[in-house]
Amino acid sequence: MLAHVMPFSAERTCLNIEDFSLAYAGKSALHELTLSVPRHRVTAFIGPSGCGKSTLLRAINRLHDLNESVTHSGRITFEGEDIHADRMNVSELRRRIGMVFQTPNPFPMSIYENVAFGLRLQKRMKKRQRDDIIEWALTSAALWDEVKERLHKSAWQLSGGQQQRLVIARTLAVQPDILLLDEPASALDPISTLKIEELIRNLKSQLTLILVTHNMQQAARVSDYTAFLHSGELIEYGPTDQVFTNPRLRRTENYITGRMT
Ligand SMILES: Nc1ncnc2c1ncn2[C@@H]1O[C@H](COP(=O)(O)OP(=O)(O)O)[C@@H](O)[C@H]1O
Ligand SMILES: [Mg+2]
Repeated sequence: MLAHVMPFSAERTCLNIEDFSLAYAGKSALHELTLSVPRHRVTAFIGPSGCGKSTLLRAINRLHDLNESVTHSGRITFEGEDIHADRMNVSELRRRIGMVFQTPNPFPMSIYENVAFGLRLQKRMKKRQRDDIIEWALTSAALWDEVKERLHKSAWQLSGGQQQRLVIARTLAVQPDILLLDEPASALDPISTLKIEELIRNLKSQLTLILVTHNMQQAARVSDYTAFLHSGELIEYGPTDQVFTNPRLRRTENYITGRMT
């Protein structure tokens, strides 16, 4: 396999994107992407606005299913299974691959109920067990200490940064294998952003993370591998240190040094 497709040798992959193309109403948005995502690492997708980062994340989570104008070809496999196979259970896929968006979107209910939301589908769970998972999820999202005294207060009373960590806790509560984060800190202040970055670094011992960001310093600070996309194509993919300090291609260098937007 080409080095830029899989820039690691000792890692195990959990997601493989193979020759994947996607178009909106016939207009190409992703062009023959091939890359593998390693397990228990943070992989950043960077590139200018409109290059296809969100489109790719949505494809991994099959969020294009309801958009009839979308066509795609190639394959995405998760733990060896084609995510578009007929037998794929899409709600189970979305449980195992959680997604967090740019703008925090807590539900209009208490902090506790937000995190419990996905667990309610597992009807047999005892309250004690649910409470333990909620504490674990809020702790993993670096929010527990700030909310443990007011779990039954409205989630909307939280600050923007806390709301985003709550959404991360809600996503973690159903114990996904992969967490997709689409510019999760771009609506937040610098201190909230650093908290999100720290929790991302801490979470990789538990799961695989894909971070979309247009903030290059953020990609450099938190990711192990970086994929640079431009106009729907994968331009360069490698260990983050190498992509930022010694990129193979002039196009990547121009982008990361700000000569191209
Ligand atoms: N729902 C949609 N319908 C039609 N075109 C879309 C839609 N979403 C994104 N696009 C187009 O696809 C391209 C990639 O967009 P997007 O994935 O949002 O990029 P990024 O997240 O990197 O900014 C852009 O040209 C955008 O205009
Ligand atoms: Mg986007």
